[in-house]
Amino acid sequence: MPFSSKLALLGATALVALCPLTPATAQDAQPWADTTLSPDARADLVVKAMTQAEKIQLVFGYFSTDLADHDFVHPADGQPAAAGYIAGIARLGIPAQSETDAGVGVATQRTPTPRLRTSLPAGIATAATWDTSLAYAGGAMIGNEARLSGFNVQLAGGVNLMRDPRNGRNFEYGGEDPLLAGLMVGNEIKGIQSNHIISTVKHFAFNNQETNRNFIDARIDDAAARESDLLAFQMAIETGQPGSVMCSYNRINGDYACENNWLLNQVLKLDWGYNGYVMSDWGATHSTVPAANAGLDQQSGWPFDKSPYFKDALGEAVDNGHVSEARFDDMAHRILRSMFANGLFDQPIDGDQSATIDYAGHAQVTQQDAEGGIVLLKNTGILPLARSARTILIVGGHADKGVLSGGGSSQVYPVGGLAVPDTYPAHFPGPIAYDPSSPMQGIAARTQAMVTYDDGSDPQVTASLAKKADVVIVFATRWEAESVDVTTLNLPDNQDALIDAVTAANTRTVVVLETGGPVAMPWLAKAGAVLEAWYPGTSGGEAIARVLTGEVDPSGHLPVTFAASLDQLPRPKLDGDPAVQGGHPHVDYDIEGAAVGYKWFDKKGFKPLFPFGYGLSYTTFAYDGLTAAADGPSVKVTFVLKNTGSMAGKAVAQVYVAPVAGGWEAPKRLGAFTKLDLAPSQSQSVSLDVDPRLLATFDSASKTWRIAAGDYKVMLGTSATDMVQTATLHLDGATLDVRGQLSR
Ligand code: GLC
Repeated sequence: MPFSSKLALLGATALVALCPLTPATAQDAQPWADTTLSPDARADLVVKAMTQAEKIQLVFGYFSTDLADHDFVHPADGQPAAAGYIAGIARLGIPAQSETDAGVGVATQRTPTPRLRTSLPAGIATAATWDTSLAYAGGAMIGNEARLSGFNVQLAGGVNLMRDPRNGRNFEYGGEDPLLAGLMVGNEIKGIQSNHIISTVKHFAFNNQETNRNFIDARIDDAAARESDLLAFQMAIETGQPGSVMCSYNRINGDYACENNWLLNQVLKLDWGYNGYVMSDWGATHSTVPAANAGLDQQSGWPFDKSPYFKDALGEAVDNGHVSEARFDDMAHRILRSMFANGLFDQPIDGDQSATIDYAGHAQVTQQDAEGGIVLLKNTGILPLARSARTILIVGGHADKGVLSGGGSSQVYPVGGLAVPDTYPAHFPGPIAYDPSSPMQGIAARTQAMVTYDDGSDPQVTASLAKKADVVIVFATRWEAESVDVTTLNLPDNQDALIDAVTAANTRTVVVLETGGPVAMPWLAKAGAVLEAWYPGTSGGEAIARVLTGEVDPSGHLPVTFAASLDQLPRPKLDGDPAVQGGHPHVDYDIEGAAVGYKWFDKKGFKPLFPFGYGLSYTTFAYDGLTAAADGPSVKVTFVLKNTGSMAGKAVAQVYVAPVAGGWEAPKRLGAFTKLDLAPSQSQSVSLDVDPRLLATFDSASKTWRIAAGDYKVMLGTSATDMVQTATLHLDGATLDVRGQLSR
């Protein structure tokens, strides 16, 4: 080294010696604090600084609720009666991950002292709004309550398609169509994450029934999978960018979802380029090496699993090379990346600030969602309720006290407490919870009529009362819940007989359904009007009353097909019973493949009780001027929508697409939709683009979406069976990559 350099080096050394070494600044000690760096770059810097034990801490999650039967006490710093907790790492400034359920608000596990929060209407009700802005607003609201309750991970975003109307968790999801479910749930996820917390999307994938959910093997062909449930997840992930994907309990084509290389490594991470992390469902992890190498990044909910697979066993697996260092670092990287990308480092939660929640404002948000999702299925003219009505009899459904909600881990204990004493045995998935928003009170506040209530326990007594009333409103309920499927489409507890007796006594009878999915209606011909109100949430009674009295137009449209009978289903008998199927219970989704819901009904030529997309209004709409033109690999559709009635209302315009030559899984698909709020006589021009994947079939060998050259029909409809205008266009054909982009 030349002398001059030595001198320089000496000088530099002396300089440092003269200035005592100042402790590293926060920036130097934690270079990942630099917010100008990308989430990936910041995550890389943290991973480089972590010990193996710290990485293990990051990938192993605990249930945050005491479990006496497991001799388990929730982590000291975790929220009580909550879903999950992963401790932070102070040395590196990594915050804890505090997890709450779920998709309708901040849930609480069963406890004598639940946190009382605002409940959105059920996911299926939000899907029934067909209004992505309501989905976003609802997500933003419940994400705010999660954050202010001290949670930074919200286990929301249920998007499993309705393949069976008996699935006990249909109420949590977005219906039967991949575009509608994907966009509605994706916007809720986006709303949640606007609060600088992480949302999941779940349950990945093909967890479309609850019967034997922990073991059942869902069998489906790759292409059919990509064109149905996986497309819903793909669109939800593109729309909402969830920080985490929750893999499900079931198997898919033989392998458990949380150790399914095809599902996690191939489809999610390689094909779709997903850069967040995969967490297991609670009790859905079954191994260390297979799961880690198949793409699982975090074991959730200890002690629900048989073994703490991602604790010491994972460390050993890494030490002995069964799980590579690179893969182990990738697990930690993905979690940290999502934490950086969603503000968990830079906008950390700050304990319990629930005293600052704006419950009054939030009540309005959930009410608008509920109102937008209520579907008017029949109306002989008795709705909206006549102001001249002098006597109104309200029957059943605890309508004098509140509205029903769905059961299981998503259960929000409502502000105001349970409206009806908890009648369910003191175990999961109870309680049977009613939100304290009384439809009867809402109606009484909006009419001069004398409003009386009868619980409907004696149909003959109720029928005699009904005879004397100007109008009768029967509230019919069906409680649905996680971990159990319903066995029939009929209403439980003799409610069909009650409705039969009442409608026989008075044709001016309105039936309001509070269910989590499709039901049979043997009394339909005799009812004067029918509303599907789903589980309408914290302000559900107000929402129902405003629709019944005409303060707001009913504008919901069905996100699911209401079958006329179980015989119309791909599987009239629910699969998965080990007593029937022996040691490997399974469900064959290749029967319908991608032809889910209305697509199946179209393909088989079945007439449903009520079709997908169906919903009436108090006003009328005219659709005109439909045009359809190729726009690259997409199709641009334009039309004019007019409110031709005398009342303001919201219309849901549905665009269906179909290849003239056939060749798809079913005759047509929903290609686009929009919801417009129109004053009387107001017109609005609309322009919509059809996602090119909805014009294509998936080719598994090349992993491409292929649009066949040929003629296509574009139909403007008000439901899957009611088309008002049709246009035809020619497409030249195109090939798209697995993400739906034009192949280079
Ligand atoms: C449950 C559910 C899942 C929930 C999790 C935590 O079993 O399947 O949706 O987020 O466990 O409660």
